[in-house]
Amino acid sequence: MKLKLNINNKFYNTNIDGDESLLDILRKIGFKSVKKGCDTGVCGVCSVLINGKPTLSCQFLAARAQGAKITTVEGLGKKADKIVDLIVSEGADQCGYCGPSLVLTTYAMKKELKDPTVEKINHYLTGNLCRCSGYEGQLRGIKKYMGVK
Ligand code: FES
Ligand code: FES
Repeated sequence: MKLKLNINNKFYNTNIDGDESLLDILRKIGFKSVKKGCDTGVCGVCSVLINGKPTLSCQFLAARAQGAKITTVEGLGKKADKIVDLIVSEGADQCGYCGPSLVLTTYAMKKELKDPTVEKINHYLTGNLCRCSGYEGQLRGIKKYMGVK
């Protein structure tokens, strides 16, 4: 079937099979920042924003994305830099595989949480697994971004 996707405010026409995931289609189009990890909805590295909400693209049928606004980390542009810089400054950048999804989720969290606390941040980030860092450095950087001590 034919599909027209709005990715980072640009339209892409593509052909898909009805059972293909948004993750696979995004990577086919060329958005390799969207990572494939578990492919079963556990690790979070495939997260993109759909209409501003973090969404596991491996669990989202591409066909359902027609008409939605999809954002990958490339679409954040300079808005991603501040988050990345804060995480890197805490020494938490290792293989980077979880980075794009973590940055997207953190960006959405800042918009959504009106009164952030460490508990709310931890809860929001549940499901964003990192196989390298142990989370503490990432969390220090993210707390700075969120304005939480
Ligand atoms: S690849 Fe989607 S949750 Fe792991
Ligand atoms: S830095 Fe390697 S998976 Fe997170």
